[in-house]
Amino acid sequence: MTPDEFRRYGHQLIDWIADYRADIEGWPVMAAVEPGAIRARLPPSPPERPEPVAAVLDDLDGILLPGLTHWQSPRFFGFFPANAALASVLGDIAASGLGVLGLSWQASPALTELEEVVSDWMRQLLGLSAAWRGVIQDTASASTLVALLCARERATDFSQENGGLAACSRRLAVYASGQSHSSVEKAALLAGFGRANVRSIPTGADFAMRPEALAEAIEADLRAGLQPCAIVATTGTTAATAVDPLEPLGELARRHRLWLHVDAAMAGSAMLLEECRWMWRGIEAADSLVLNPHKWLGTVFDCSLYYVRDAELLTRVMSTHPSYLRSTADAQVRNLRDWGLPLGRRFRALKLWFLLREQGAEGLRARLRRDLENARWLAGEVASAPHWRLLAPVVLQTLCVRHEPPGLEGEALDRHTLAWVERLNRSGAAYLTAAQLAGRWMARVSIGAETTERRHVEALWQGMRAAAEC
Ligand SMILES: Cc1ncc(COP(=O)(O)O)c(C=O)c1O
Repeated sequence: MTPDEFRRYGHQLIDWIADYRADIEGWPVMAAVEPGAIRARLPPSPPERPEPVAAVLDDLDGILLPGLTHWQSPRFFGFFPANAALASVLGDIAASGLGVLGLSWQASPALTELEEVVSDWMRQLLGLSAAWRGVIQDTASASTLVALLCARERATDFSQENGGLAACSRRLAVYASGQSHSSVEKAALLAGFGRANVRSIPTGADFAMRPEALAEAIEADLRAGLQPCAIVATTGTTAATAVDPLEPLGELARRHRLWLHVDAAMAGSAMLLEECRWMWRGIEAADSLVLNPHKWLGTVFDCSLYYVRDAELLTRVMSTHPSYLRSTADAQVRNLRDWGLPLGRRFRALKLWFLLREQGAEGLRARLRRDLENARWLAGEVASAPHWRLLAPVVLQTLCVRHEPPGLEGEALDRHTLAWVERLNRSGAAYLTAAQLAGRWMARVSIGAETTERRHVEALWQGMRAAAEC
């Protein structure tokens, strides 16, 4: 494709995206396709001869679009929001168009230095002290894996430089609440801790980790001859956005010399708001933290900010120095390949930079506040409606809700919950996620798509009642 052809098709594609976003409210939110239906419409083998780009664009529109669930819809209330604000889409397009890689600072100096600048801008917006250094990873899953690898290495006096974990005399233990995201256990397993040494700490009525239970688990492990290694706290758990209390957890980490990693994948964005900072009281005692601007904040996936206090330790664990990656600038610059798992690095900072500049902190804060206000409104409606119940405190923009008709409980109530959520989702009018909390199914309503206004939340509430009370 020549640059001139790219210009022509590129304009068409931008128009197509702009039309899609302008009309997105008209699409049923959840894809109404059966498994395999899209694959069946695609050729099983690749084209031998070149095809016109117009044909590819046609298939994008005619075959793939009907097979999508529309995350940018104002009627999307599933999982957590994954906002792809159009300003950040432009940044992503610029990154793809430039096609540069940050294998080293010298490989693309502006890529590295913009990433340093935007991660520091975000640090300031989040109210973190100047002791933190940030880097962009692809996901919170990768960030937490990096954190646990660093925790492992610090606890074992850098075992990777000698005999590795196998040569350690004591088993290392990791602690996270029973409400932590599945990526935490996965990271612990991949980092070699072993499932038998990953502790699931009980939570209280608010679904936050109980520090006394954590203290007991650490003591029990010490008595059994294990080496407690790391605590993973969550600010804003996935099911119920519960907030683990960082101050007592930080105190335990300090007392036992444990790594404290904070998973604020979703709730981190809320730290732009002074009124939400109570959730992070004690954050300065942590060793590492992650938040995902690719969730609520609006940076198109993927963009996960990982902050550490000891960057030297991070780079000692992650660095590689093959001759072909060295440059004369190495002593004066950051080589971000040493700040995470992959060598290759996209120009991800661009999409965050575009977003921050186009919205300004003011614009971002106003939108987050709008969503919190919408969540409070819906919580009020649910709490005062007969046979509807809020199952967890609404601290952010996610509600845990159940419709509990008289006489229904246990598995029958679970069947009712799953059935009405499925009915609502299949109607196309809204999309929300069913999940288990305390062993029982509930409906999770996660407000915060960029386009969601109060009228969409009002319509959702009507839709929920119609689906459940029919
Ligand atoms: C609290 C929490 N941590 C981690 C993750 C995983 O995020 P990612 O997809 O960036 O790995 C999620 C995803 O929703 C989450 O809610």
